[in-house]
Amino acid sequence: MRSPPPSHAAAPLLASLQRAPRPRILPAMERQGPESRKIILHTPEEFEPMRRAGQLAAACLDMITPHVVPGTTTGALDRRIHDWLLDHGATPATLGYRGYTKSSCISVNHVVCHGIPGERVLQDGDILNIDVTALLDGWHGDTSRMYAVGEVPKRAQLLMDVTHAAMMAGIAAVKPGATLGDVGHAIQALAERHRFSVVRDFCGHGLGRSFHAPPNVLHFGRPGEGPVLKPGMFFTIEPMINAGRPDVKVLEDGWTAVTRDRSLSAQFEHTVAVTETGVEIFTLSPAGYHKPPYPTG
Ligand code: MF3
Ligand code: CO
Ligand code: CO
Repeated sequence: MRSPPPSHAAAPLLASLQRAPRPRILPAMERQGPESRKIILHTPEEFEPMRRAGQLAAACLDMITPHVVPGTTTGALDRRIHDWLLDHGATPATLGYRGYTKSSCISVNHVVCHGIPGERVLQDGDILNIDVTALLDGWHGDTSRMYAVGEVPKRAQLLMDVTHAAMMAGIAAVKPGATLGDVGHAIQALAERHRFSVVRDFCGHGLGRSFHAPPNVLHFGRPGEGPVLKPGMFFTIEPMINAGRPDVKVLEDGWTAVTRDRSLSAQFEHTVAVTETGVEIFTLSPAGYHKPPYPTG
């Protein structure tokens, strides 16, 4: 995910509109915010390579599932992901991205996102997010899921269930003519109904040939606000939901984001497209591994 612009970013536009003689009808692009100008509309032919990239990333998350067990390290999981992606003709898009040196992000318990795989040993009761971006034939498939190590506390399971449901509610709001505010609102409403909180400091993003592109996909919002969705837009929906307060801080390593109150955090991520009639999910699990608990044995 990326950090959204500061919330006052829209202020200069608003101020200039208020000073200028007010046009009765704003040009469509200004109504939708300056960002909508830069959102790429992909052709039907460009869906096919994105399907392949998305399916490979999702299959990689399937592959790692039986390896998420007590006693393994996050670094060992990352090495498996690295080797598997290369074996399948892809590269991990995170490797070397803005100085990041791993093939995945692995975020355990109160880590919100961008956990750096390393020597951390997984223990019974941990919950973790594994986030993989496959770069295949020039296209990015970006997806993440939660995993449970052994038996996890009831509240941890509920947080994962609600976070998955919130992501799916956001996806269900995607169709031509809807707005990103509709998507964010659907996610926020579901999370807050359960008295959980939506992280504000990271958001989903456009992608395709680029890893991170416009638009910013906020996981909160108001119906009808934000850019209007059009067929051919590709973006991620990747809500981070906290059991406690929404506030996060980034550790000294410059990447690891944690909850300030050390409450548990969960996240799921899909790469999706706006189609003529609704939405296509590029990163559905080929194995049917949607959320924990996953079948074992
Ligand atoms: N895959 C993450 C996302 O969802 C991005 C990770 S960038 C990294 O956008 F450098 F932290 F790996
Ligand atoms: Co992403
Ligand atoms: Co990701």
